[in-house]
Amino acid sequence: MTVTRSPLVTPDELAGWVRDARQRTIDLVADLPDDRLMGPLLPIINPLIWEIGHMAWFQEKWVLRDVCGEPPIRPDGDALYDSSAVAHDTRWDLPLPSRAETLAYMRTVRDRVVDKLQHGAPSDLLLYHVIYSVFHEDMHTEAFTYTRQTLGYAPPRLAVEPPPRTAGGPCPGDAEIPGGTLMLGGAPEDPFVFDNEKWAHPVEVTPFRMARAAVTQAEFAAFVDEGGYRERRFWSDEGWKWRESEAAEHPVYWRPAGSGRWERRHFDRWAALEPHLPVIHVNWFEADAYCRWAGRRLPTEAEWEAAAATEPAPGGRGFAVRKRRYPWGNDTPGPRRVDMDWGVMGCVDVGALPDGDSAYGCRQMMGNVWEWTGTTFEAYPGFTPDPYKEYSEPWFGSRKVLRGGAWATRSRLIRTTWRNYFTPDRRDVFAGFRTCASPS
Ligand SMILES: [Fe+2]
Repeated sequence: MTVTRSPLVTPDELAGWVRDARQRTIDLVADLPDDRLMGPLLPIINPLIWEIGHMAWFQEKWVLRDVCGEPPIRPDGDALYDSSAVAHDTRWDLPLPSRAETLAYMRTVRDRVVDKLQHGAPSDLLLYHVIYSVFHEDMHTEAFTYTRQTLGYAPPRLAVEPPPRTAGGPCPGDAEIPGGTLMLGGAPEDPFVFDNEKWAHPVEVTPFRMARAAVTQAEFAAFVDEGGYRERRFWSDEGWKWRESEAAEHPVYWRPAGSGRWERRHFDRWAALEPHLPVIHVNWFEADAYCRWAGRRLPTEAEWEAAAATEPAPGGRGFAVRKRRYPWGNDTPGPRRVDMDWGVMGCVDVGALPDGDSAYGCRQMMGNVWEWTGTTFEAYPGFTPDPYKEYSEPWFGSRKVLRGGAWATRSRLIRTTWRNYFTPDRRDVFAGFRTCASPS
């Protein structure tokens, strides 16, 4: 791997990110009593007390130990917190340090890393691994948030400035996306990319139509109400197997509320469906079944990236050579364009935030909900793993790609080439989807 000095952020700004990411971790669990910090053994979550310690361990291992050659802060750090070595189901039985000890360890690591950034000239390798550790923490802070949803805890209390209120409502209709050669993936001149984004390579995309917005709760309710969960023909073989094994009749956090109405659980509160919010917490099988019912399909990840990152070529044929880092261009994401960074502690209407539209008028391709694509997560041609080898390679072939980030994703983390991936049965992540179709 070649490590180049990242223009993404200065060492001083990066020190701010390190503090900010750690503080977000601490704030996301601060109100939980000790029994909730441990929580039940479920395959889709970690004990939160383990996971917050793992944040610090990961940063210590890569930055302080590997790059700086320092001895371990805790002799038991690897035995407790190495996610590659400590089997998931055993994490509830570990001799984990107390909350106070865990927090002290987390602060010690943070302070030493900040010190490395602010004193002396940090090497490119050091900067790379600090950035990596911040992004790793950003991914876990999103996971802490949906763990709280999974377990029915109250929404976290965060000191986040509320964004300006924006008009909402629906956002119906399709955008016409031209065909062309898409350079799918991250480019070497991008400031930071993960191994699974490397490198941009040509993919032919034929013209298609993509919904301007993600599928809403009202739209998904029509599928449920028309018996979509009971009709075998809408489901793939795997999807039907999953549906039967779970006896799934509707999205996981919905319940019937009488007179044909539905309620949805948002953390610890039940409320009537919000018709123009995107449907969220649906898995790939559910998204795929909805598409078949609607006579539509999921976009491939290349189609998604074409709709989010390209502009039409000047001559009107195909895509312009330059891709956009974000759907609206290259300006940094902010609350006028995206629902991210926990700004409203949930989703906004799919019609909100028109300033974030892509070149073709697709709305909210960043933020609000992750969007399932039809594509299985695979390596791009010429893939080689980066130093943290377990990030992508073990998961190729078994997961579906999601794109775009959700309301609890850090906006500093992602861009139009960013690939997320989960198994198709996961309903706990902040995922929805948008549909597409052949050209009219
Ligand atoms: Fe991790």
